[in-house]
Amino acid sequence: MTKLGVNIDHIAVLREARKINDPDPIQALGVLALAGADQVTIHLREDRRHIHDEDARRIVELSPLPVNLECSIDESIIDIVCRLRPHRATLVPERREEVTTEGGLDIIKYEDRALKAIERLHAEEVEVSLFIDPDLELMTVADALGAEWVELHTGAYANIHAMLYGNLPHSHHSIVELDLPRHTLKTKLEESLASLSGAADHAASLGLKVAAGHGLNYQNVTPVAAMRAVEELNIGQSIIARSVFTGLEKAILDMKALLR
Ligand code: PXP
Repeated sequence: MTKLGVNIDHIAVLREARKINDPDPIQALGVLALAGADQVTIHLREDRRHIHDEDARRIVELSPLPVNLECSIDESIIDIVCRLRPHRATLVPERREEVTTEGGLDIIKYEDRALKAIERLHAEEVEVSLFIDPDLELMTVADALGAEWVELHTGAYANIHAMLYGNLPHSHHSIVELDLPRHTLKTKLEESLASLSGAADHAASLGLKVAAGHGLNYQNVTPVAAMRAVEELNIGQSIIARSVFTGLEKAILDMKALLR
């Protein structure tokens, strides 16, 4: 069964709406474990808009589940991650003005910086994942850089799925023009799934472990979960959004049922 990493950043987003100490993301840890999540994922952003350093420190210290800490390749952030020593660090691109992580890390343009970050993390026995677009060449570069994992960016697929099946959450920063005919969107959806499974197969054939994530929800997750080479999905927004209405444990159990 595909493993589930639950991204709890949005619990901290709710806290930051009031700048108080409630809800505390730490309180999610027990519920995640109880509901059968396989990993907790957090993103320590450079602008600290949700998870703070102290959250990250306590989560790494107290989590009963492995911690996957997403971070940029900025040296000062890598310093912190090296001190925290989570189970895994996922290197992601970061732009301050973005609403969420848009597009994968360009490991060709930033090859030297990525390599330096990977070497520093490995020296602290932190395994490394690279959050990259589903492109065959990038899988080869990720392997050459020595990462243990790649996480395939599923945002393009999620956006096209939302356009096609309507009335579902989708990004305002869509890469697809809104007025495309349905048959074109269907072709694009098939193409985006083929890119994901092709990249996943290629990465696995190189010996990389493969995760995927971004924009996955209860409507679009099944074809990605069905990909053999994809071992793990990291999902945040849709689970935390559903949990407002159903409770966090039920929201995780509903997602686990789809991954099964
Ligand atoms: N994986 C990575 C690398 C991410 O940056 C994010 C967003 O923080 C996610 C997964 C989860 O995306 P979503 O909140 O859209 O499920």
